[in-house]
Amino acid sequence: MQEIIKEIEDNLVKYNQFGKSDVCRLFHGRGGCFEGYQHLNIDLFGEVVFVVAFVRVEQGFFEKLSKSILDQLPVVNLVFLQTRFGERASLVYSYKRDLGLELLNPDTRVSYNFSGDGSFYEQGLKFFLLKNIDQNFGFFTDTFMVRDYILKNSDGKRILNLFAYTCAFSIFAIAGGATNVVNVDMNKNLLNHGKQNHLANNQDLRKVSFLPYPIMRSISRIRKYGPYDIIICDPPSAQKSSFNIKKEYQKLFRSAAGMLADNGVFVACCNAPSITYSEFLEILDHSSCNTSLSYEGRIDQTFSYKERDLERGLKALIFRKKQS
Ligand SMILES: C[S@@+](CC[C@H](N)C(=O)[O-])C[C@H]1O[C@@H](n2cnc3c(N)ncnc32)[C@H](O)[C@@H]1O
Repeated sequence: MQEIIKEIEDNLVKYNQFGKSDVCRLFHGRGGCFEGYQHLNIDLFGEVVFVVAFVRVEQGFFEKLSKSILDQLPVVNLVFLQTRFGERASLVYSYKRDLGLELLNPDTRVSYNFSGDGSFYEQGLKFFLLKNIDQNFGFFTDTFMVRDYILKNSDGKRILNLFAYTCAFSIFAIAGGATNVVNVDMNKNLLNHGKQNHLANNQDLRKVSFLPYPIMRSISRIRKYGPYDIIICDPPSAQKSSFNIKKEYQKLFRSAAGMLADNGVFVACCNAPSITYSEFLEILDHSSCNTSLSYEGRIDQTFSYKERDLERGLKALIFRKKQS
């Protein structure tokens, strides 16, 4: 337990160097660097902490961990335990600062009303937790360094954000000076949530489009909004029925290359641990497909995501289109 608390302390110091940030991976047991805790991740979202376990967790362990987290982090008022078994995720316990432990009933597990507004900040930008939590919470902490890259490289650029979810990349792009962003995601509710996230940051919605399209069947419609200077592609790793990384990523990579302006950048993300860095490069097969894109390198891992095998952590690769 002491090891977890020490890791949380160290990570918070690092995140605080990036300006107001109260959303992050506090503890990454899944990376395999902490003996005995390979099945445990802990994320901070403002006043709420989610302990995510991939095995059954004893009530006593969760209670003790929650108390330590609340002692250490005065901003936190609520700790949840979410368990994930395969595709199934459920909130099992909550631990409130004033009320202590509560076993959640099955209805509460799918929808939870937070006492506050469920907001949190990364690098001074504001976001909201999803009202109805399913497996995920409305914001992915693993792509912190990719958002940082977008913030620093978007000035004057036209951006396409594929698999936009709640539009986090779009908000960073506009904050970084992008002239316009096109967000595409087949889930309209998530895009609406993304719209609220933009408004929370007083961003001009005339610069932002929200296209509720299934991507693979909408390439020509998406192309009409281009050309783009940066294309971000961050698909799901576990939603095989909606996007299959092994079968469809290369096709998307080729099509996207045709939508880029000269010198434009394609950011290809893949967070499936089952696919290594080398396998991902092979899947994209950029050298053999005639895309005129050249590989520039990999964006650094987010520092609190300690991985025993770096090949399997988040792969965020940069490709640049040569001048024609
Ligand atoms: C892992 S999330 C993307 C995270 C996001 N890039 C971010 O920065 O927060 C996956 C998203 O892809 C969307 N999605 C999955 N398959 C899709 C498809 N074929 N067409 C459009 N959207 C899709 C889902 O609705 C979901 O919002």
